[in-house]
Amino acid sequence: MTATAPRITTEPHMPARAGRMNWLRAGVLGADDGNGEAVARWVLEQASTRTDAEFELVDLRDHPLPNLDEEVPASMGMYSQPHTKEWAATIAAYDGFVFVTPEYNHGTTGVLKDALDYLYAEWNNKAAGFVSYGSAGGVRAVEHLRLVVGELQMGDVGQPVQFSLFHDFENFSTFVPGPQHAANAAVMLDQVVSWAVALATVREAAAKQTMAA
Ligand SMILES: Cc1cc2nc3c(=O)[nH]c(=O)nc-3n(C[C@H](O)[C@H](O)[C@H](O)COP(=O)(O)O)c2cc1C
Repeated sequence: MTATAPRITTEPHMPARAGRMNWLRAGVLGADDGNGEAVARWVLEQASTRTDAEFELVDLRDHPLPNLDEEVPASMGMYSQPHTKEWAATIAAYDGFVFVTPEYNHGTTGVLKDALDYLYAEWNNKAAGFVSYGSAGGVRAVEHLRLVVGELQMGDVGQPVQFSLFHDFENFSTFVPGPQHAANAAVMLDQVVSWAVALATVREAAAKQTMAA
């Protein structure tokens, strides 16, 4: 399961903001008391040598949200609860995301789904990549998530990174990823960064239109 609260800033490469045209900040949403933290930290490690973006862990355990308790849909932009405002500020700070999800009964976790449902504008026009794990690699959870993030107007990239509970974990609990996954992760991260750059222009144009209205 996944999603976070106080960000755990990882040591990865932290490029200076100044002088980098395409400097990006991306969140890896994941980590839980099960296998999620090890997988999310592996993603951060893969991203740590990048010079075009800073990736940080957004651990959902740090951002505990009750079952959705806003009175109006998030798309109305009328957040009333302090926890919603805190979560909105957290997510607003990122240009793109890598969602780390297990698969439960062919879907993602309730916690991650709620974390997505709480907000709207903060997700719009941002890139989304996926890393999944489960008995069947979490593929159905990701297919489900693609529909959800599509409704949130995110750009979901195509490269999958899927871990098998049988082949990439010892005793279903110790993460020992096969070497082939690093190449897939590199492609996925490239896609997230390039789409995040492209979508930043969409957000800028939308902000200008709002200001002009
Ligand atoms: C209630 C439950 C349902 C599950 N359903 C699926 C499933 O539909 N497909 C699958 O590939 N794995 C399934 N699994 C295996 C989980 O994906 C696996 O145990 C994973 O490590 C759970 O994530 P976590 O360790 O981060 O909690 C299920 C596990 C549980 C506990």
